Amino acid sequence: MDSSQLGDLVVTADGSLTLKHPEHGEDYHSSIGAAFESENLYLGRSSFSDRLKQQDQPVHVLDVGLGLAYNAMTTLDRWYIAQQAGPLHMVSLEVNKDLVEVLVAGKAPWAKAWSKRWHNFIGSMGHKNGQWSGQIEHPDGSLADWTILVGDAEVKEIELVGGRFFDFIWQDPFSPAKNPGLWSSAWFSKLRQVSAPNAELLTYSVARVVKQGLEEGGWQWQKIPGHGHKRHWLKACIKC
Ligand SMILES: C[S@@+](CC[C@H](N)C(=O)[O-])C[C@H]1O[C@@H](n2cnc3c(N)ncnc32)[C@H](O)[C@@H]1O
Repeated sequence: MDSSQLGDLVVTADGSLTLKHPEHGEDYHSSIGAAFESENLYLGRSSFSDRLKQQDQPVHVLDVGLGLAYNAMTTLDRWYIAQQAGPLHMVSLEVNKDLVEVLVAGKAPWAKAWSKRWHNFIGSMGHKNGQWSGQIEHPDGSLADWTILVGDAEVKEIELVGGRFFDFIWQDPFSPAKNPGLWSSAWFSKLRQVSAPNAELLTYSVARVVKQGLEEGGWQWQKIPGHGHKRHWLKACIKC
């Protein structure tokens, strides 16, 4: 497909590129920076990097709304640059097949200025048994495997890797106004069922409906500092 049909490119405050959704008009990232948001607010406000240091167990990440893959790339990058990492398993959920195909084909216009390492992560993906997956080797020899499940996450089963629950969830669909299903109590309850008892869920929305959905879905939440005009971020856990 012609990648321009996915939406117009928008330059965010840190120079990284995002897209404006062609139908509902919402940007895929806030103006504070697509890359900034992943690095500092999703990964940076979680204990992901500390968790890698423990190395006692593989780390499992669920990336809700692969989108332009900033959260996925930043997760793999943090893992890759960790001194010693241990195994990582990441599952990304994405309903827009065209977006995934442009990305894995290395033709995403928003990715032109990405580092060679990020392009290598994308280049690891292949299509097998009806899904996109890839494996990346850390300099210490550990492996990360990354799978993209294409389809509507609300109805699709979220497959566990090796029967293990997710430790981190990057909850990043479009806003509750545009994408209410992925902020509902049913959705958060579905996430709870695939989460480890000490899982951390990070998200950008602190809307009342989100907090209510989380509570009804079995999560506790806390507002944490955001950045710039995005004053708050949200972290949820099952047993905080
Ligand atoms: C805000 S963007 C995600 C940005 C992304 N996390 C990143 O780091 O670039 C939201 C994404 O969620 C996807 N999405 C929305 N509803 C979905 C659903 N029901 N199932 C799976 N993906 C969905 C959209 O297609 C879109 O790509």
